[in-house]
Amino acid sequence: MTAAYQYETHEYDVVVVGAGGAGLRATLGMAEQGLRTACVTKVFPTRSHTVAAQGGIAASLSNMGPDNWQWHMYDTVKGSDWLGDTDAMEYLAREAPKAVYELEHYGVPFSRTEEGKIYQRPFGGHTTEFGEGPPVQRTCAAADRTGHAILHTLYGQSLKNNAEFYIEYFAIDLIMSDDGVCQGVVCWKLDDGTMHVFSAKMVVLATGGYGRAYFSATSAHTCTGDGGGMVARAGLALQDMEFVQFHPTGIYGSGCLITEGARGEGGYLTNSEGERFMERYAPQYKDLAPRDYVSRSMTMEIREGRGVGEHGDHIHLNLSHLPAEALAERLPGISESAKIFAGVDVTKEPIPVLPTVHYNMGGIPTNYWGEVLNPTAENPTAIVPGLMAAGEAGCASVHGANRLGSNSLIDLVVFGRAASIRAGQIVDPSKPNPTLNKASIDKAFDRFDYFRNAKGGVTTAELRLEMQRTMQADAAVFRTDKTLKEGVAKMTEIAKKLPDLAVTDRSLIWNSDLMETLELTNLMPNAMATIVGAEARKESRGAHAHEDYPTRDDENWRIHSVAHVDGADVTLSFRPVIVDPLTTEAEGGISLKKIAPKARTF
Ligand code: FUM
Repeated sequence: MTAAYQYETHEYDVVVVGAGGAGLRATLGMAEQGLRTACVTKVFPTRSHTVAAQGGIAASLSNMGPDNWQWHMYDTVKGSDWLGDTDAMEYLAREAPKAVYELEHYGVPFSRTEEGKIYQRPFGGHTTEFGEGPPVQRTCAAADRTGHAILHTLYGQSLKNNAEFYIEYFAIDLIMSDDGVCQGVVCWKLDDGTMHVFSAKMVVLATGGYGRAYFSATSAHTCTGDGGGMVARAGLALQDMEFVQFHPTGIYGSGCLITEGARGEGGYLTNSEGERFMERYAPQYKDLAPRDYVSRSMTMEIREGRGVGEHGDHIHLNLSHLPAEALAERLPGISESAKIFAGVDVTKEPIPVLPTVHYNMGGIPTNYWGEVLNPTAENPTAIVPGLMAAGEAGCASVHGANRLGSNSLIDLVVFGRAASIRAGQIVDPSKPNPTLNKASIDKAFDRFDYFRNAKGGVTTAELRLEMQRTMQADAAVFRTDKTLKEGVAKMTEIAKKLPDLAVTDRSLIWNSDLMETLELTNLMPNAMATIVGAEARKESRGAHAHEDYPTRDDENWRIHSVAHVDGADVTLSFRPVIVDPLTTEAEGGISLKKIAPKARTF
């Protein structure tokens, strides 16, 4: 029987779900073009997780020394361990300077050089001369609060351009037509319990990552993979989910982020012997090697008995040799975090740190315009009409198997912007909205009602903890056949318990019990796709460090994994990596020889 919920219907050209960097940049771009645009968000826009982004945004502005987009592209290709789509990586690197200057003109208060240019700092894996030269200062920063600065600016600009915001609205499910066109989204308004149906010619999912599938993450508690959950329930694909990034410097215990910018400004890691061990693992770039490299090196030091602290289970990040004025000017936020979360005065003592889940390279597959793909064997780049994804929720794929630090903020604005450019080409404001598929709306309300009235045997908090502990233990920095096999078996049993959840609050107003339950139903398909994808991939690449298959296998595994998740069942298939760039060398692009796969050393 269909649950009877009254709802209000809203019609827009475009509905963006999520108000982080990608969502706001898409919203702004849509609204600037005169498209009737709504942004639906479960948290106040400036509380979206982008607000926590610290170190900066990568773009080859050359403000601090020589740089160009080809070097940035090369670093991104190598950073991705040759799993990124080359057309998208070229688009990212080429468009990055433009996108950053736009941010500057919108009003982002970047830190400045003496000459008044945007200040840029070094970040891991960003180099000169196609990986042959010294590190480059490519990461544009607003002290160590870059995400905060961007988010506030984009929100203000979106309001100025008459975008309409639906704040504290939780997206329950997509509305799909019988022939696979996305027509809108069904939402629950958290503060008054009313139900809302948004009809749109284009829906953009910018819902962020699913870091909270793990026990310890730098991600906010709101990072519950809501877009991926909705997509999975619509029978659509998730891509490359086995690649989960561990940030080397989460504060030991709390997991709170200490920006890579700390090492960019001259900080370094030491083990229990006081040794700067990164010199052994990455002789050229040392502490500024990419994150997967540094996280693995730290884990190896701890495993080999050279961790610091009472239990020898973490590492020290040293900043006290840096001038106190530099710390106050360039790294005020992390100086405060270190004090609050580790009780450390960074001018005097090292910060205790540990690799912590930080970013999902995988997500909803898209092309570089943000259009969602429904890959099939016949057509690996088939498009889902009416649906886009951008930011961490999406997988364009520019990060492949490992993202470079500060390539996330630039991904958000480049692809949020690209989505709006594409929508401007294909959304016709003069046309009426499609007739909504009532069956799809009913299905969303039925699911909502099921969980609202759930009287099963396990609480949401219990099941979530089981999932988080299993993912943390079995889909970790290092993986083995044994841990992954066990992890898949455990996670399958955990996912099977979703229908047996117990919700105690039946109200519709500020029902956090129900909201967290719906979030768990989103986290679970993301987690299942992650662990099943990891178990299937018999090689090591980027963040997927498989101890039984320690080398990269380009012949068999330079392919994207594509997961369809139905409850506890995951069906995997694969699609080819796009190896051709957008432009040839003759057109000013990068030569195929330059970006051909090779050993990834630093
Ligand atoms: O370390 C950081 O500031 C994080 C940046 C990023 O993930 O891009």
